[in-house]
Amino acid sequence: DSAVVETDVLIVGSGPAGSSAALFLSSLGVPNIMITKYRWTANTPRAHITNQRTMEIFRDLGIEDQVLAEATPHELIGDTVFCTSIAGDEIGRILSWGNHPARHADYELASPSMNCDIPQTYLEPILVRNATQRGTQTQFSTEYLSHTQDAQGVDVRVLNRLTGTEYTIRAKYLIGADGARSKVAADIDLPYEGRMDIAGSMNITFKADIAELVGHRPSVLYWVVQPGSNIGGIGAGLVRMVRPWNEWLIVWGFDINDEPPTVTEESATQIVRNLIGVPDLEVEITGTSLWGNNEQFATRMQSGRVFCAGDATHKHPPSNGLGSNTSIQDSYNLAWKIAAVLNGQAGEQLLETYSAERAPVARQIVTRANRSGREFGKLFEALGIDKAKSAEEMHALIESRKDATPEGAAKRAAIKEAMELKNYEFNAHGVELGQHYESSAVAGDGTSRPAPARDTDLYYEPTTHPGGRLPHAWVGNARSKVSTHDLAPYGRFTLLTGSTGEDWDTAARKVSDQLGVEVAAVVIGPGRDVTDLYFDWERLREVAEDGAVLVRPDKHVGWRSHSLPADPEAALRGAVSAILNRE
Ligand code: FDA
Repeated sequence: DSAVVETDVLIVGSGPAGSSAALFLSSLGVPNIMITKYRWTANTPRAHITNQRTMEIFRDLGIEDQVLAEATPHELIGDTVFCTSIAGDEIGRILSWGNHPARHADYELASPSMNCDIPQTYLEPILVRNATQRGTQTQFSTEYLSHTQDAQGVDVRVLNRLTGTEYTIRAKYLIGADGARSKVAADIDLPYEGRMDIAGSMNITFKADIAELVGHRPSVLYWVVQPGSNIGGIGAGLVRMVRPWNEWLIVWGFDINDEPPTVTEESATQIVRNLIGVPDLEVEITGTSLWGNNEQFATRMQSGRVFCAGDATHKHPPSNGLGSNTSIQDSYNLAWKIAAVLNGQAGEQLLETYSAERAPVARQIVTRANRSGREFGKLFEALGIDKAKSAEEMHALIESRKDATPEGAAKRAAIKEAMELKNYEFNAHGVELGQHYESSAVAGDGTSRPAPARDTDLYYEPTTHPGGRLPHAWVGNARSKVSTHDLAPYGRFTLLTGSTGEDWDTAARKVSDQLGVEVAAVVIGPGRDVTDLYFDWERLREVAEDGAVLVRPDKHVGWRSHSLPADPEAALRGAVSAILNRE
């Protein structure tokens, strides 16, 4: 047998979960190897909507500009259209992803970063490149086979698919980011709830310049209601922009109980022409594939020294665009914890908080995405086509929404209501930013979480209640403007306080020295490095000026103090020790 290769963390998979884990670990100085089965990254566009939470993570890691350079920007992605074909009749539109003027303020206020659209074929190379530049050993054409773990580490058998040789990588921790059919997850027997393969979808990628049909209503998503569009899949036929306005991906359903359809170039071209609504459209089919829709999540994401992240732990349709986003956010939660344990700054118990914090998110997003898919049913019902027996009948029923009759009016009202429900798929800001953690890595302050004033799926409500995401506010000085998120970089703990909270600064220095953990205080106030320029932080911080908000590396609040206690050093030491699960 050949020599054993050693590393701190072995990552299986170079998808969004794996390549971002590699980037996070390398940025924190943790030696890691990333192996991936194929010779390159994703070969189809796959996930694309990149939400604000993910963009602010990219900002934190210094790659937001690189992502934006390859993305379709926020303002070109949101005029979501419902139609009978792209060239045909419109049923309605929903301004999506915060593009409605009435919702835009919510998105602008919530984060320093705006959402955008970047297909996986463009995003993964950015993540892999930056991870590798920062230290990751990236091994393509290398397959995970099996592993065994002991008290000190994990022995992983891998196969070099070029040479056919097997070898062992010895790592202190293993991350299985190997997708929905994860072998790592199977090998550690992760417990799941829900089902796989509940509906069938086919993807057809193609090139066709249809700028004149879509350029005036720029969007990523054009939903098509046609005979067959309510079968299988994600709710309705979908024409999805890959690049404006000449590269596209169609998602069309099939009945999972039938034989899987064979998609020829001819049949794919026909589906494209039907959905675009141009019978002689010049189309170049670039690929076709079949995939199953899943509704399954892991209730635990770890076994000893082995963790799973991404689709290995949450399997769901693309509705709400949560797949790649949640995968990256999993790894962001996990990587700093592994680094803290490896550096001797945290107790091993900290690693258990990964499951405690992320498994509830897996459940939430799998449920949300599947519900969003099913809620298309309301539109079919409103149109009256849920029980239509023939294509002709379906056409007639869709047409009858134009009738100047009481029935026509009732149908129009029902359509409006069904469309409003789709905000839960296309403007679910609360799902995207409202994650709130409860675990031993969050130190309570004796208060309970504020009751939400609005719908928690649609609306994000900022709070510094421990466990919530750090609220964003623009702060700075006469020369620069930064986000509160920028004050709290990934590599450290940050304590935000005000002018009369100056004593926290001394406390933070002492606690840093005592615990060997970087805890930096930032005093926000006039005449300091950072001023509350718009008085927004004062409105958001929910503590007194001499209080403090302790921010974890992943920008979730770990603890807060409402005012300056008699012994701030002891209070802060207690909080940091608790969060890090030190003895
Ligand atoms: P992901 O599946 O991306 O990556 C898994 C990685 O593990 C790959 O690099 C693979 O090579 C590697 N791997 C697997 N087994 C291995 C082994 N034994 N050894 C070594 N490496 C191994 N989402 C969305 O929002 N909109 C969409 O339109 C689509 N469309 C879509 C189409 C298709 C065909 C798929 C498969 C998926 C989608 N998705 C999607 C889902 C989205 O792609 C998904 O949520 C993310 O890619 C999940 O990222 P992960 O990194 O967890 O897994």
